[in-house]
Amino acid sequence: MLKKPLIIGNWKMNKTPEESDDFLQKVLDYEAEAKPNCEIAVSVPFICLSTCIDKSKSSPIKIGAQNCYFEENGAFTGEISASMLSRIGADFVILGHSERRRYFSETSEIINLKVRSAIKNGLDVVICVGESLSEKEKLIADEIILMQTKIALFGVDINSLSKVSIAYEPLWAIGSGDIEKIEKINEMCEKIHRVVDQIYNKGASATMKVLYGGSVNIKNLSKILSKANTDGVLIGSASLVSDEFLKIIEFASKHT
Ligand code: 13P
Repeated sequence: MLKKPLIIGNWKMNKTPEESDDFLQKVLDYEAEAKPNCEIAVSVPFICLSTCIDKSKSSPIKIGAQNCYFEENGAFTGEISASMLSRIGADFVILGHSERRRYFSETSEIINLKVRSAIKNGLDVVICVGESLSEKEKLIADEIILMQTKIALFGVDINSLSKVSIAYEPLWAIGSGDIEKIEKINEMCEKIHRVVDQIYNKGASATMKVLYGGSVNIKNLSKILSKANTDGVLIGSASLVSDEFLKIIEFASKHT
């Protein structure tokens, strides 16, 4: 890994504003004292955004959402647009998480519209791509990852790539306790970099980050970050407990 590692916590549908306040205070205290040499980001439920954004205002910690809609405003009951997120001061949004694809029927085409809307509204995006177990067994994981990446980036300008991170998250690894083989993670991250170079031009992918997600914890972090093509991690359950998340940050910081 050559860049400063990016460590993102994805809280999913967990924590109240009060709990997020408490958690973030601990991260802010740690950051102010230790000045870790990694980028820290937390992706929180919509109802925690204001609390977290206000609290982290004068710190380098980035706060993001876990989804947004692609239209700017209008009759879309229950949705939150990228422009709304931008207006309240969110730094980024996760798009195309496999839980959104699976439980809320989001297609790659819908994710592409969301990516374009988020970038247009000044947000950074973390695009998730990943194969299911059955796709892995059929030996089509590479094709799935490359297809999801190409569709998500369709129409995205090369100058916006610095606002993009792509998280490789095999579906079967999420919440399972098992990570993909380290060599395979490195190979997939490399393939994502190469396909972005192919879409744009050689070297274009150098400005974006490729992350791994799926059962990342303090025990397997060192192996994951030791590989040249993995620029950081997207963490679910291990990001919910502040002590655990801080240990991960401390480790990633020393690792650079
Ligand atoms: P876990 O770390 O709980 O496996 O979740 C990964 C994930 O889905 C992050 O977006």
